[in-house]
Amino acid sequence: TGRVTLDPGFVNTASCRSAITYIDGDAGILRYRGYPIEQLAEGSTFLETAYLLIYGELPTEAELDAFDARIRRHTLLHEDLRSFFAGFPRDAHPMPVLSSAVSALSTFYQDSLDPFDAEQVELSTVRLLAKLPTIAAYAHRKSMGQPLLYPDNNLSLVENFLRMSFGFPAEPYELDPVKVNALDQLLVLHADHEQNCSTSTVRMVGSSHANLFASVSAGINALFGPLHGGANQAVLTMLESIKADGGDVASFVRKVKDKDTGVRLMGFGHRVYKNYDPRAAIIKRTADQVLERLGQRDELLDIALELEQQALSDDYFFERKLYPNVDFYTGLIYRALGFPPKMFTVLFALGRLPGWIAQWREMIADPDLKIARPRQLYVGPTERDYVPAGRR
Ligand code: CMC
Repeated sequence: TGRVTLDPGFVNTASCRSAITYIDGDAGILRYRGYPIEQLAEGSTFLETAYLLIYGELPTEAELDAFDARIRRHTLLHEDLRSFFAGFPRDAHPMPVLSSAVSALSTFYQDSLDPFDAEQVELSTVRLLAKLPTIAAYAHRKSMGQPLLYPDNNLSLVENFLRMSFGFPAEPYELDPVKVNALDQLLVLHADHEQNCSTSTVRMVGSSHANLFASVSAGINALFGPLHGGANQAVLTMLESIKADGGDVASFVRKVKDKDTGVRLMGFGHRVYKNYDPRAAIIKRTADQVLERLGQRDELLDIALELEQQALSDDYFFERKLYPNVDFYTGLIYRALGFPPKMFTVLFALGRLPGWIAQWREMIADPDLKIARPRQLYVGPTERDYVPAGRR
């Protein structure tokens, strides 16, 4: 069977060729289709960035308008899928609700499941981009015991999502441009990150020719873990526990450095970045501005700043090249927008969706596509004879 190399966590193994996202982890560089993340965060929008990732080029104004209009027409959920939300326990975490509802799209939209039919792939792409915000908002409303609002297709994707998340049927929802722009920028920053755990999952599931909905649903479940997308919720829990401890940052840092405690500094460290995560640098500035402008500058931001500063000047973190990652400051912004911590990872999923779609489409179109099938090094018993139960 040839030589098999052991590479736990795929630290050195490339699983594919990709033309979507470039990362230089030592230099702290991230580019989508060649465009630096700083420029996209400043000048682009989430929808435009989604187009760039999926189709490879920035759209013209007419192309973007057509893309936007098409997505707006697909924001509604099938009524039977809408009633799905009633079946989950009220205190359910919204991430499994999200992955279940996305998985269920395969049952409601059976005319867009063929991975090798370009029109069907296009339709499932548009359906996912249009419906995930509606599903995410419903998961949130359900957990609050609040009404599910129908989407309003006069609004942009982000505006619509905020209205469905926080509006009420009996009164107009007032959109706050500071919130709309902050959320839009966060989604841009999360839109792709090459072969991370959830994206590799999407590709792995898709490599068996599973449809786009099934593959993305698997990606959402991979994102749920606290070492991946779940870290943004874990950061807030960590900051709150430090606050409850009288804001004693130094004692928390000591706990992290003592390996026996098993406590990690959440929102720090990255498999690829051995330098400041460029997304964290942008988000730190945004957090500062947004909290200031919303008049919500809080103690948790001060704790986060203090924690970052102490960690960055500490040998433990320096030697291991541990820097703040994308999740370190996002929770503070999500909280200021009004989302409960349980929703943070759902917001990450909304942002990452274009990346998952782009990567799945690149994989399906790859002439070298093979079903993903890692090998192993077997370390179990050698051959032995079966012994009937009475003689063991
Ligand atoms: N706090 C304390 N020590 C850490 C941390 C941390 N956050 N991250 C890594 N280390 C230590 C680790 O204990 C190990 O030390 P030693 O060499 O003495 O055994 C060394 O640094 C290398 O860590 P690793 O676990 O081998 O690194 P990895 O590449 O397997 O893990 C990671 C990367 C992101 C899972 C990890 O840094 C981590 O658990 N961070 C906290 C969770 C987090 O913030 N995740 C979000 C990642 S970015 C967005 C996303 O992917 O969703």
